[in-house]
Amino acid sequence: MSKSKVLLTSLVVAVAFVASASVAMAAPIKIKFSHVVAENTPKGQMANKFKQLIDERLGGKVIVEVFPNSQLFGDNKVLEAMLLGDVQIAAPSLSKFKKYTKSLQIFDLPFLFKDMAAVEKFQQGPEGQKLLMATKKKGLIGLGYLHNGLKQLSASSPLRVPADAKNKKFRIMSSDVLAAQFEAVGAMPLKKPFSEVFTLLQTRAIDGQENTWSNIYSKKFFEVQPYITESNHGVLDYFVITSTEFWMGLPDDLRPQIKKALDEAILFGNTVAAEKAIADRQKIIDSKRSEIVTLTDAERQQWVNVMKPVWKQFEDQIGKNFIEAAIKSN
Ligand code: LMR
Repeated sequence: MSKSKVLLTSLVVAVAFVASASVAMAAPIKIKFSHVVAENTPKGQMANKFKQLIDERLGGKVIVEVFPNSQLFGDNKVLEAMLLGDVQIAAPSLSKFKKYTKSLQIFDLPFLFKDMAAVEKFQQGPEGQKLLMATKKKGLIGLGYLHNGLKQLSASSPLRVPADAKNKKFRIMSSDVLAAQFEAVGAMPLKKPFSEVFTLLQTRAIDGQENTWSNIYSKKFFEVQPYITESNHGVLDYFVITSTEFWMGLPDDLRPQIKKALDEAILFGNTVAAEKAIADRQKIIDSKRSEIVTLTDAERQQWVNVMKPVWKQFEDQIGKNFIEAAIKSN
């Protein structure tokens, strides 16, 4: 080999060595996943499953840190934090996106979905998939939907018919549709963070709230709410979200692997959600701290009649096509 060829070969070897060393030493990608619920809930378990899958498959290259119980951010701040790069993944309830899109308000329309199968069908159908991009203009993209379940009404007195809710104060998530829903029955809705609900109920600063069985159980609302009306009047699901900047900035070989782990974690979370809706309801009954109010068909129909006009109020903001597709999913 000529002298210059030897020189060139050693140069190539040296460059390759430096390059591979720098790849090996590349700082891991950090994903902070912030949420507001307890770890033993559908969302808490989904987030932990995502971390576990990433640790197993991409350990060293990607590090997931999960922050439950509003430890890092409440849902009123988490999306701003995401846009600033302080959080990479979150899964706020679909009711908490009004600053970013009006279309997701569809999920708050009372009595729209008859059960969780209908919710799943709509989310996985063409309109539901289109809605994953509803916040894109604001720099956020939906990576998927996660279930929690149908909401029930808890209160300090039994709620059988809409008149029972009149002049009562209910905590709601930060959604104008939910405000309209409670105003329709003559109640007073108050938008408050999830982290404050227990104390508000305990101190009787408010009379009631609406939530899923797993949230009512895991945050002990049933201990300070003697009545829970099994109304199944609306859905509480999550938008698993990231910032476009973070997502598109991921290396092309890692992005699909992270998405796959997330999809698997969501499927796992959905199974947990279905199980918890049954198991946590039973635990609340067994505790005898709270009485479950079962509505007759005629009583339930009264709630439907009073709350359903809210759909028309928000039809223009949401889009009639989305509402029609949701109705068809039933
Ligand atoms: C609530 O604020 O009631 C829920 O969005 C909490 C949650 O994340 O399930």
